Amino acid sequence: GIYAERALSIIRERKHLEGPMLPILHAMQHEFGFIPEEVKPVIADELNLSRAEVHGVVTFYHDFRDAPAGRHTLKLCRAEACQSMGADAVANRVRQLLGIDFHQTTLDGAVTLEPAYCLGLCACAPAAMLDDEVYGRVDADCLAEIVAEVRR
Ligand code: FES
Repeated sequence: GIYAERALSIIRERKHLEGPMLPILHAMQHEFGFIPEEVKPVIADELNLSRAEVHGVVTFYHDFRDAPAGRHTLKLCRAEACQSMGADAVANRVRQLLGIDFHQTTLDGAVTLEPAYCLGLCACAPAAMLDDEVYGRVDADCLAEIVAEVRR
């Protein structure tokens, strides 16, 4: 496949490290934007692990995606100040609206939803961030508008 060759050199540059799996996965995530299915057996072979072990690590850490991210990333703050201002209810409505859960991407590839743990806008909780832009005192309606805008 198209990823395997590059994957192999990423692995070989790092397999001498102690605990090489995470550095290898981070490098791949950085390079490919996600962890392609086809590289898992390559990693397994090179590190003498089972595919199940590799798969287990990839799915355990939410940093690693199994598919490319959407064109936009919407982050909803899940930390305390935002929680106390109703972030959970907002998150539930946004998940419904997009039809996806956290760490997933809408079918049209427009939006990936991610949790954030404090966006530095606690005084304006609940907070959200679309790509590089932060928004304070969000509610589901304003997020719906923002999302509709980027999905056009
Ligand atoms: Fe949400 Fe700080 S807790 S912005």
